[in-house]
Amino acid sequence: MAKRDGPEHDETRGLTRRGLFRSIGAATLVAGCTKEDPPLHPESRAVADVDGAIGLTPTPLEFVLDGQPQKLEVEARTTLLDLLRLDLDRTGTKLVCDRGACGACMVMVDDVPRNSCMMLALDVAGATVTTVAGLGGSSQLSALQQAFVQHDALQCGFCTSGMLISSSALLRRSAGQTLERADVEDAIAGNLCRCGTYPHVVDAVLSVANGGGGSAHNVVLLRAKPSTKSGGA
Ligand code: FES
Ligand code: FES
Repeated sequence: MAKRDGPEHDETRGLTRRGLFRSIGAATLVAGCTKEDPPLHPESRAVADVDGAIGLTPTPLEFVLDGQPQKLEVEARTTLLDLLRLDLDRTGTKLVCDRGACGACMVMVDDVPRNSCMMLALDVAGATVTTVAGLGGSSQLSALQQAFVQHDALQCGFCTSGMLISSSALLRRSAGQTLERADVEDAIAGNLCRCGTYPHVVDAVLSVANGGGGSAHNVVLLRAKPSTKSGGA
């Protein structure tokens, strides 16, 4: 047998550890260069074989937004909220929790209030979507929006568009009926207001629903607050 010199091979000990690792590395390198791509999972292959499968490319979408027909293409992963805010300039619809918990992103889809952060844009195909920007005219507030101002129903305003959407949907579905405070409270149950404007919101909605039946809560509070100061200054 020919004599092999070097640290990789020792006549007395056979293959050394270094030699063994070098052999494994070389074998791995050769295998990596010659290896073919693994076959697709059967389900992946099925999707990839379908022409126009949703999710692979932008998908056509048509719907009506604030009275205007829309025709565009969106990726299947796009939420309705992202489409409205980022692509269609409806920034009055707010992003707050992004998980369906606060109602700030609410819009009406076929007159039903929905959290737009929890819907895919493609889910509104063929539907009518109304945002806070579509409640009044292009240059005027709706009666409900005016009532919000009159009743001081907003402070920071982050919940306000959602409150208006829930309340508007209530007014639409209860047209001609007399509403109680509990009706409004139920309607806005999915809208969180960190500033605590709930009583003012209820007053504003009732004032529109019942033709001025709601009290101006802020005025009542101011009148009920006794002065603690005596004398001048
Ligand atoms: S941002 Fe959608 S529910 Fe809060
Ligand atoms: S007005 Fe600030 S969260 Fe409602």
